[in-house]
Amino acid sequence: MKHILVIHGPNLNLLGRREVDIYGKVTLVEINKAIKQKAKELNCQVEIKQSNSEGEIVSLIGEAKDSADALIINPAAYTHTSVAIRDAVLAVGIPAVEVHLSNIYQREGFRHKSLVVGVCRGQIAGFGLQSYILALEAVAGER
Ligand code: DQA
Repeated sequence: MKHILVIHGPNLNLLGRREVDIYGKVTLVEINKAIKQKAKELNCQVEIKQSNSEGEIVSLIGEAKDSADALIINPAAYTHTSVAIRDAVLAVGIPAVEVHLSNIYQREGFRHKSLVVGVCRGQIAGFGLQSYILALEAVAGER
């Protein structure tokens, strides 16, 4: 059975109350419930973490080296700033998918650049909760 680690970055714990015009009313609890349901359907084991701290995210990725077969990560604001998260994904060598709820390319210019995507298999952005579900399907189907 594939073991998939899902990491939600900073401020995603505030979903449902945060910029609802952009992110909608869906909460992180609801997203995690949908992720677990989909993982069950795909016969995968899923572990879900959220952190507001860059260092903690780096550590979580590092610890996944021996336990996870794939990584789904929404680095949130760190997408656009974090060389450390990029280096961690590169270091563990686990296939990773970068996820965003919003279409970052339709937003402010500073969100158009991801420092992380270049070390990921791909990126899924703009489909809200469904971005995570599509990412799960992508990694579950990987060999
Ligand atoms: C986000 C997009 C980022 O630019 C932003 O900083 C977030 C959320 C998204 O899921 O759309 O916090 O990663």
